[in-house]
Amino acid sequence: MAAPSPLPALDDLTPEALIAARPFLKRHAQSGLLLEEVPLNAIADALGTPTWVYSAGTMRKRLAELTAALSGLDAHIHFAVKSNDHLAVLRLMAQGGAGADVVSGGELLRARHAGIAASNIVFSGVGKTADEIRLALSEGIYQLNVESAEELEMISAIASNMGKTADIVLRINPDVDAGTHAKITTGLADNKFGIQYQDAAALYAHAASLPGISPQGLALHIGSQILSMAPFRAAYARAAQLIRTLRASGHSVTRMDCGGGLGILYADEAEASPAAFAGVLRQEFGNMGLTLMTEPGRWLVGNAGLLLSSVILTKADGRFTVLDAAMNDLVRPAMYDAFHAIVPVGPGNNGPLHETDIVGPVCETGDTFARHRPMPSLNSADRVAILEAGAYGAVMSSTYNSRPLAAIAMVDGANWATIRARQSVESLWSGELIPEFLG
Ligand code: LLP
Repeated sequence: MAAPSPLPALDDLTPEALIAARPFLKRHAQSGLLLEEVPLNAIADALGTPTWVYSAGTMRKRLAELTAALSGLDAHIHFAVKSNDHLAVLRLMAQGGAGADVVSGGELLRARHAGIAASNIVFSGVGKTADEIRLALSEGIYQLNVESAEELEMISAIASNMGKTADIVLRINPDVDAGTHAKITTGLADNKFGIQYQDAAALYAHAASLPGISPQGLALHIGSQILSMAPFRAAYARAAQLIRTLRASGHSVTRMDCGGGLGILYADEAEASPAAFAGVLRQEFGNMGLTLMTEPGRWLVGNAGLLLSSVILTKADGRFTVLDAAMNDLVRPAMYDAFHAIVPVGPGNNGPLHETDIVGPVCETGDTFARHRPMPSLNSADRVAILEAGAYGAVMSSTYNSRPLAAIAMVDGANWATIRARQSVESLWSGELIPEFLG
C-alpha cells in the first residue's frame, strides 16, 4: 500500500505562498480573493455558501496546453467525465476539441447532451451492464474498452443481436505500480481493472474471431495523481511490446488508449508536465502508426475549481474552525487523507498566523479538511476557499446529514454565472414514499 505523500513544510502553506503559486488567483485589497477577475465575495453574496466555483479560463488554458504538447502525434484527448461531469464543463471541453471518456450510461448521455459527438466517446469501466452496452452501440460511440473475457462475450452477443459490430480495445493490466494512494492505483495485478497482461494476446486473437467484435487495439490506465513519468513509461513500454507481438502474429492493431492519471499541484508538488508526458508517448509509441488516446480528468480541471465556504464559528480558542462546507461536499480529505490548500477570502484576514483544525459540521471525526493549518484568525461569517476542488469534488458529493448539494458557479474573465442552483431541502425527500401500512 502506497503511503500518503508526506505533508509539506508549514512555511509553504501560508495563504500568501499558496495564492502566489496559483496564477488564476489574485488578492485584491478591497474585494478580497479573485478567481480570474471575479471577486469570490460577489458569488458568495449572491448564492450563499458552500458553493463550488470553476474557472472556465483555467480549464480552457489547460486543455490548450495539453493539446499543444500532443501536436505532431495522432493523439486525441478524451476528458474523463467522472472527474467533473457538469454540462457546462463538458460543453467547454467539446468546444476545445476534446472527446469524452465515460464509465456509465449516465455519463454517456450527459456527454451527448452537452454536445460531445458519439464518435468522440470511449467507454471504460469494469462492469458495464447489458443496457449500457446496448446504449453505447445504438449511439455509435468510438470504442468500448473491454475489461474482461466475460465482458467481451457479452458485447459480442449484444452486438450480434443488434446487427452491429463493436469497435473494441482490450484494457490490459500492465502490473505497474503508479506509486499513488492505494485507493486510486489501478494498474497492479491485484487491482480489479483490466485483463492480465499474460492473457491479453490470446484474448485479442479470440476477439478477432468473435461475431460482432472488431478489435482495434489496447487500453490501459494505471492510476491517478501520478507525478513521475516513470510508471507511465514502464506501462507504455509493456503495451508497445504487446502490440509488436500481436502484429507479428498477423493482428491489426491501430489504436492505443493511454488512460489518464497526470498529477497536479495540491501542496508543493511539481505537477506532471504535458510536454514530458507527450515525450513519453513519442518515445514509446512514435513510429508505430497508432492512433493514440489520452483520458485526463484531474489535470484539466483539478486546479480550476474551488469550494467557497463560510466560517460558522471557531471554538476552543481558535483550535477548531468550523465551516459550513463538510465531507458530504468534498470527501477527498476524509476518504484519501488528501491535502487541500485553504485560503481566507478576505478582505482583511491578513494578521498573524496560528494553527487551527479546519472542520465541517457533519457528525464524524473524519469530517476534517485540514489539521494544524496555519491561518490568520478567522471569525464567524469570514469566508475561505478550499482549493484544487475542480476534480473529484462536486461529483463525489452526497447529501449525508440531509445536507443539500451545494450551488455551482462558473467564472470566465470578469463574467460569472450560476451553473447549478443549490438543491432545495424539500427535494431531498421528493422521491421518497411512506408506505400505507405505516398509516
Ligand atoms: N481513465 C480511467 C479508466 C480512469 O479510471 C480514470 C480515473 C481516468 C481516466 C482519469 O484519471 P485522472 O486523469 O483524473 O487521474 N476520486 C479519486 C480519483 C479516482 C480516479 C478514478 N479513475 C480522487 O479524488 O483522487
